[in-house]
Amino acid sequence: MNASSNAIAAQPNPSNKVRDFVARKPRLLINGEWVDSRSGKTIAVFDPATGREIAQVADAGKEEVDRAVAAARAAFESGPWADMTPAAREAILWKLSDLIERDAAELAELESLNNGKTRFMASIIDVPGARDWFRYMAGWATKIEGTTMQTSIGGIPGAKFHTYVAREAVGVVAQIVPWNFPLAMAAWKLAPALAAGCTCILKPAEQTPLSALRLGELIVEAGFPPGVVNILTGLGETTGAALVAHPGVDKIAFTGSTEVGKIINKSATDTMKRVSLELGGKSPMIVLPDADVGAAVGGAAMAIFFNSGQVCTAGSRLYIHSKIFDKVVEGLCGAASSIRLGPGLEQATEMGPLVSKEQQERVLSYIESGKKEGATVVAGGEAVSHPGYFVKPTVLVNCNPRMRVVREEIFGPVVAAQRYDDLDEVVKAANDSPFGLSASIWTNNLSAAHRLIPRIKAGTVWVNCHNLVDPNMPFGGFKSSGVGREHGRAVLDLYTELKSVCMLV
Ligand code: NAI
Ligand code: MG
Repeated sequence: MNASSNAIAAQPNPSNKVRDFVARKPRLLINGEWVDSRSGKTIAVFDPATGREIAQVADAGKEEVDRAVAAARAAFESGPWADMTPAAREAILWKLSDLIERDAAELAELESLNNGKTRFMASIIDVPGARDWFRYMAGWATKIEGTTMQTSIGGIPGAKFHTYVAREAVGVVAQIVPWNFPLAMAAWKLAPALAAGCTCILKPAEQTPLSALRLGELIVEAGFPPGVVNILTGLGETTGAALVAHPGVDKIAFTGSTEVGKIINKSATDTMKRVSLELGGKSPMIVLPDADVGAAVGGAAMAIFFNSGQVCTAGSRLYIHSKIFDKVVEGLCGAASSIRLGPGLEQATEMGPLVSKEQQERVLSYIESGKKEGATVVAGGEAVSHPGYFVKPTVLVNCNPRMRVVREEIFGPVVAAQRYDDLDEVVKAANDSPFGLSASIWTNNLSAAHRLIPRIKAGTVWVNCHNLVDPNMPFGGFKSSGVGREHGRAVLDLYTELKSVCMLV
């Protein structure tokens, strides 16, 4: 069975643990307790592989936002968290990472069921990633430091000064995350903020709130004091927007669409919140004429089909030198049509559905627009007739730089391949985008790679690989791909304020 046979296996039943968890009463985590939303309103959650409703979660209203912000404020200003030593913060973050490891199998299953990705991928990427982000960031808690400096302040004869810069936690942080890597995105946001001593309100995406709620249980079990992490499930336009506008929130950290990133950046200006944004991409993959064809084919397939293409760094613009264009495209089409589509809990599945009906429709409409604008579908190009939200791995050729499939983020398993002859021409084409999140270069010529890297306007450039991240490697975008850098030492800038102290001695 493969993608072209159209047959989608049945979604196996989840384990009893996961079944019981998804059946739990809709609740929000506020001030260390699981509470109802006052309105009683709920949001339905679906299994993308079947289109069936699997859970209901609470829809947090303005009142719950106020309560969560008040709890986070109180926990930040005084009490056990405010008094905790950095070493104790480090230890509690490690405790949480150990609990993630303990429950790794259950978390991977839950993530697969809610997001559609395979349980296998969740168990080798998302869950260990979340664990490792907490571990890495735990170490930073004890390594935050300031500086002392000499000054030349005049006007006071004989005066001496002791001047230093302290780094302090920014305060109450609201963190709004998307649905493509729900647990990992929650970890990317929470881990550095908590290491820095902030308190958090996490709002998972409405499509995929389940692993964040399970993480909330682990946060309580790890012993984080009440109010340090609050979890509000709700819609972006209401719960998310209320957090962004709230005067009690000091900082917003957001990952999602560029469209919403712009709305958030504008809205946060009214209260002058700190804002960091990790937004969309349209990442180019540049295959030089000397590249190993087999490596480029495998790399291109992973770059665009990993996580069903729902990756901000997906290699969605594929530039191949004319000399090897036909070979690479032929190999990529072969790879695309042999990928086994299916439900995430089925062991034989290689690629799951898209996250939602809406996303499936969006991706299909991009494929249609590509066809209308003159692109040719050489692999995939359609949905699978099945209740789940499947789209076949798709390769488009005869693309040109004006097409929407080349300019806009599709966020699905669709790659636009283009041929080039001249290096200057491909550099110009690669940079001809409002986005600048990432890029990859495929070559065995070290000198060519080094010469190309500085010419690419992107926050990450991979060479002979794509989509690889590490907690020690700064991550973020040039241009419309965002503001700020997450991970590594750089992320501390997002969750701390500098305080200059000048003391006349
Ligand atoms: P989105 O940007 O609307 O949603 C991401 C998060 O933002 C969710 O938690 C959502 O509830 C929240 N949100 C939405 N509107 C908000 C508002 N006005 N104020 C505060 N929070 C708000 O993304 P969506 O609509 O799910 O996907 C649309 C497109 O966005 C995708 O096709 C893809 O191109 C892009 N996207 C990019 C992601 C990335 O990792 N860079 C992740 C998810 C989507
Ligand atoms: Mg949206």
